[in-house]
Amino acid sequence: MKITATHQHIAEQNADMLIIGHFQSDDSNKEIEALGGTIAQEFSTRLKNKDFSGNHGESLTLFNDKGQHIMVLGLGNADKLRQTALYETIHKAVAIAAKTRCETVANYILTNDFVDISKEQAVKLVVLASSHAEYRYEDTKQYKDDSKHHLESLAIFVDQGLNEMITQAKAMATGITTARHLGNNPPNIANPKYIAQYAESIAKQYDNCELEVLNHKQMKKMGMGALLAVGQGSHNKPKMVVLKYSGADKNQAPIALVGKGITFDTGGISLKPGLNMDEMKYDMCGAASVIGAFVATAKLQLPINLITIVPAVENMPDGNAYRPGDVVTSYSGKTIEVLNTDAEGRMILCDALTYAQEFKPSVLLDLATLTGACVVALGHQASAVMTKTNGLAKQVIDAGLQVHDRVWELPLWDEYQKQLDTTFADMKNTGGFPAGTITAGCFLSRFTEDANWAHIDIAGTAWNSKKEGATGRPVAMLTQFLINQAG
Ligand code: BES
Ligand code: MN
Ligand code: ZN
Repeated sequence: MKITATHQHIAEQNADMLIIGHFQSDDSNKEIEALGGTIAQEFSTRLKNKDFSGNHGESLTLFNDKGQHIMVLGLGNADKLRQTALYETIHKAVAIAAKTRCETVANYILTNDFVDISKEQAVKLVVLASSHAEYRYEDTKQYKDDSKHHLESLAIFVDQGLNEMITQAKAMATGITTARHLGNNPPNIANPKYIAQYAESIAKQYDNCELEVLNHKQMKKMGMGALLAVGQGSHNKPKMVVLKYSGADKNQAPIALVGKGITFDTGGISLKPGLNMDEMKYDMCGAASVIGAFVATAKLQLPINLITIVPAVENMPDGNAYRPGDVVTSYSGKTIEVLNTDAEGRMILCDALTYAQEFKPSVLLDLATLTGACVVALGHQASAVMTKTNGLAKQVIDAGLQVHDRVWELPLWDEYQKQLDTTFADMKNTGGFPAGTITAGCFLSRFTEDANWAHIDIAGTAWNSKKEGATGRPVAMLTQFLINQAG
């Protein structure tokens, strides 16, 4: 679906479908009036008969004299329209549009003013919700569902000054689609080698990009004992995939993003229960999200330097697998006692984070589907951010609010650190039941002491039901964060 900005008057718009909004309290609609012909009369009859009253969630399709579909979306009470409601309304409209015979759609919802949502936010929401609704996973299907076709184009009416918001949001949408593709592909396809090859195609596609891949032999030489321990039970050998983008002077410190790339998490010898184990194909969504943000950055050619690091590893039980009780030496030199082979994410991240600091980043973020406890704490609404740097969590949270990709802070107080103490190594890899998300963050903090670092746990937000699959979160937040850093 090609998304463009339009400044054309609604009556001159030739798209097959026009989408407009209607607040509950209004007894007429200026867009419908502007269309002219008999449709205004019909709409007022519908309002009078209460066939449509503009409640949030309602929609009504009429036809104008030119035969265009006019989809009117209920926006409810103007004072009460929040980001979520606007996002869901647009999402639903585009999903409906994809089930009609319409190929081209023009959206005039932004002719309305929203009390609680800024113009900039609203433009981005419309692009992101539309693109999200139009996405279809078809990679491993022979049968393609024709009842939901792809729309050819979507023109969004915006004020002249907001064209840049469309450009930014389109790049985010491309990044989100990339992340969803990587997340949804099955673990027998999207393995470490696949991720490396996919990264290569990205590096070739965009300007100012470079790719470097460390294989397991190189990592062994370097001493990445924690990462390699996780991978040693799998025939799919680990890879460290490093994408570099240079959009600024080479003396400018890069921003580094590290994403957990467990291409499948069985739990290892501490085997997970069978129920829903298939969902552990999504355990590389941290990797998918940083690659998505990389694509958005390269597409926008932002004036920053960016390094995206993905440790891509499969966690399998096997005769050679690492075991509970093992003590391994990480790349940093710190030793780790493995108490649970299912706490593998932190094992690969600690080595990737140590490696990332060799690039002397100005900001270092890691993204990971790290703990089930995060889903318990925040559900599927917010990602969790943890940091020891003042102000960094706020920057992450604010970026999320700008694009409705929300994040909430959890504390990394030193008092939690002692849960990682052990007699047999510098630390153990689990902190017990209380505050499981925080103790995972504490573990990582031991490897990032000199960096301007934040950890973001996306276990609850990166995917949802089996039906929708990977959400592409938090690519929008990350991209907005990078845009804010660039400006
Ligand atoms: N990838 C999982 C976390 C996860 C589980 C995310 C379910 C989303 C849904 C991670 O590797 C893991 O297994 N974590 C353990 C840690 C524990 C052993 C300390 C967990 O959360 O149970
Ligand atoms: Mn695990
Ligand atoms: Zn995992």
